[in-house]
Amino acid sequence: MLSQETINIVKATVPALKEHGLEITKVFYKNMFQENPEVKPLFNMDKQESGEQPKALAMSILAAAQNIDNLGAISGLVENIGAIHCKANVKPEHYPIVGKHLLKAIKEVLKDAATDEVLNAWKETYQVLADVFIKTEEKIYAESK
Ligand code: HEM
Repeated sequence: MLSQETINIVKATVPALKEHGLEITKVFYKNMFQENPEVKPLFNMDKQESGEQPKALAMSILAAAQNIDNLGAISGLVENIGAIHCKANVKPEHYPIVGKHLLKAIKEVLKDAATDEVLNAWKETYQVLADVFIKTEEKIYAESK
């Protein structure tokens, strides 16, 4: 369970992070593809290379985090994203990779405003979100066998 304080910190920092959306997205993909090239084949590289905005994964996570205290309200969305993830072959072991690079991007962009308190709140929140997706996707994979 996330504390109310953690939820408050995450919700309070989402707008600032969204303002730096493009930067976060760029830093996030650059670091992730460099340090964890094993996840690269999961993404649709045609779109990334054509300059079309790559599916802004970091931004999607920020949006989901904004609803962290009301995940029931977005359960349909979670199912839909889960199905897309399963098609792309996203697996539980990929979640810590994305989490690590999301936190790093938040830190790079927020600089001094990224206090330990802020980073910890994001870490905890991402973990809760990741668990929700991993469980949803486990079911989808099991049903498709
Ligand atoms: C809690 C964490 C995550 C959230 C909230 C999230 C959210 C999303 C959303 C909203 C989409 C777009 C769906 C659409 O096309 O409408 C998406 C697509 C996608 N996600 Fe995730 N995701 C998460 C974790 C991950 C992880 C761990 C991976 C694996 C590295 C991943 C890989 C992908 C891929 C490959 C797509 C397909 C689109 C593309 O090629 O860019 N996601 N995700």
